[in-house]
Amino acid sequence: MRKKLLLGNWKMNKTPREAKEFALASKEMVDYAIAHDIDVGVAPTYVCLQTVKENADPRLIVSAQNVNEHDHGAYTGEISIPMLQELGISWVILGHSERREYNGETSEACNAKIHALLAARMVPVYCCGESLETFEAGKTKAWVEEQIRVGLAGIAPEDAASVVIAYEPIWAIGTGKSATKEIAEDTIAFIRGILRDMFGDVADAMRILYGGSVKPGNIAEYMSEPDIDGALVGGASLALDSYRGLIEGLVK
Ligand code: 13P
Repeated sequence: MRKKLLLGNWKMNKTPREAKEFALASKEMVDYAIAHDIDVGVAPTYVCLQTVKENADPRLIVSAQNVNEHDHGAYTGEISIPMLQELGISWVILGHSERREYNGETSEACNAKIHALLAARMVPVYCCGESLETFEAGKTKAWVEEQIRVGLAGIAPEDAASVVIAYEPIWAIGTGKSATKEIAEDTIAFIRGILRDMFGDVADAMRILYGGSVKPGNIAEYMSEPDIDGALVGGASLALDSYRGLIEGLVK
């Protein structure tokens, strides 16, 4: 049985003061989620990680939005795994479509980062998803398969169990045009099939999230599908009442 997971991707939102306010006010919400056997977390910007980690309930997962695969060195503007570890951060989102588009992040680069994270016993949240053009051309599955096979190449099945996958169709991100639950399930079940081919039965233990215009009002629909284990949420994860609404939707 896979545990449900809600992860808020704050992207480039919230100052440290705003992030601290959220963290301090989130205690009751985290209690509620844990009581219903749901894992909950947020992914603040680097400059907010420490304050969220220090001020939130320790059971709130705090994730980075990227990491460099090298431990240290001449990589201006980068953040390393040991730096995150010192803050008690053990989750990292990788390969988000915005980073692929604006920062040239490739599946090959994500693969190196995933290997480094798994060696450090950390949890990668690896994102995949197709553009509107690819979707309309009916090439979603081939596109996503390539991202999964390249991003997770060379990972041992016993390590793969801790990897979280997020399927986020780019045309559904921040557009208000969420994928139907049938489309999301179809692609996510397909992804699980690829994972089964790569890692065997471990695939049944791997969590796969849907992301793209998930809101308190539609999250429950996705959760009714057998292969969808939770959501990676952008805009609707920023305000406390909306975040709480997302948890309530997961509980349904
Ligand atoms: P929205 O929920 O704002 O559509 O963003 C989804 C996303 O990109 C989460 O990583």
